[in-house]
Amino acid sequence: MNEKYIDELLEKINNLKAQGEQEIEELRVKLLGKKGEVTHLFEEFRTVPPEQKKLFGQKLNVLKNNALAKIEALKESLADSQQGNAASGQLDLTMPGDKMELGARHPISITREEIISIFKKFGYTVAEGPEIEDDWHVFGALNFPPEHPARDMQDTFFIDNHDENKILLRTHTSSVQVRSMERMELPIRVICPGRVFRNEAISARAHCIFHQVEGLYIDRNVSFADLKQAILLFAQEMFGPDTKIRMRPSYFPFTEPSAEVDVSCNICKGKGCNICKGTGWLEILGCGMVDPAVLEASGIDSKEYSGFAFGMGIERIAMLKWQVNDLRHYFENDVRFLREFETVI
Ligand code: DAH
Repeated sequence: MNEKYIDELLEKINNLKAQGEQEIEELRVKLLGKKGEVTHLFEEFRTVPPEQKKLFGQKLNVLKNNALAKIEALKESLADSQQGNAASGQLDLTMPGDKMELGARHPISITREEIISIFKKFGYTVAEGPEIEDDWHVFGALNFPPEHPARDMQDTFFIDNHDENKILLRTHTSSVQVRSMERMELPIRVICPGRVFRNEAISARAHCIFHQVEGLYIDRNVSFADLKQAILLFAQEMFGPDTKIRMRPSYFPFTEPSAEVDVSCNICKGKGCNICKGTGWLEILGCGMVDPAVLEASGIDSKEYSGFAFGMGIERIAMLKWQVNDLRHYFENDVRFLREFETVI
């Protein structure tokens, strides 16, 4: 009997690895089976001289116990990995699959698509423009006088403030009005959805990034009555067929006359509740007849053509539609909020 051979076999056993059930069984037979290496040593033990029996007896017992323990350990780790223990790097393809979670569309996307699809029915096409704009398309061409406060750092994120035609993040999608007038053939009927940026402190009612949809219609003989009808039809498609609108005189540099539009509160049906602050009305957009100076700035003959424009905040429309009371929900992507829209198609 060779002491070194026993020590080496012990070390070999301690380092054994096996891939599957079959390999483990093969190892067990090779070590502990009838003709196994460990079994064979026990047979040889009979021939060991009496004075060496104690030494070899102890060594062989350690060897056998280690072999048994190692086989057990291999079996256990195989069972673990079959239970999907990722750390072991093994996959059990017979396990039932994980449930597929369906995502929900974001309420801003849902609302944007709905607004677009309503205006598409009226014959509008979608136009988009850049988020990084110049002063001319955001302010100059829209009749903002040079000293207008909207051009102030308080509101606008400037990227390059040195040139006269400054580079900035658009503060409204009215810039796409200008781009459409510049490059489209008349008559024009476009709807312009997009992201806008204003340097506002984030709160329940304001955010520095939000979304708007701009609308523009230019043709011969477009009147304020056409504007009113377009907005009424939109409001009824969006908030229900009983919805009423009212127009309040307002001011925008690029429209004359200008108005702000309210819809009858769809929660209390106009009776007055805490959503409409007891008034029965909810403000949804700004609009007006395109100022002749704005038409001329983009090369359109204001004696021959007239038009109307309107602009609305998508977050605002979505808040009214689903009674969301804090704008920040739209940006935080808390799945508990997003899941509420799973069933909205
Ligand atoms: N651009 C305006 C804003 O950001 C919204 C607006 C008002 C757009 C009146 C228009 C309009 O086209 O006619 O507040």
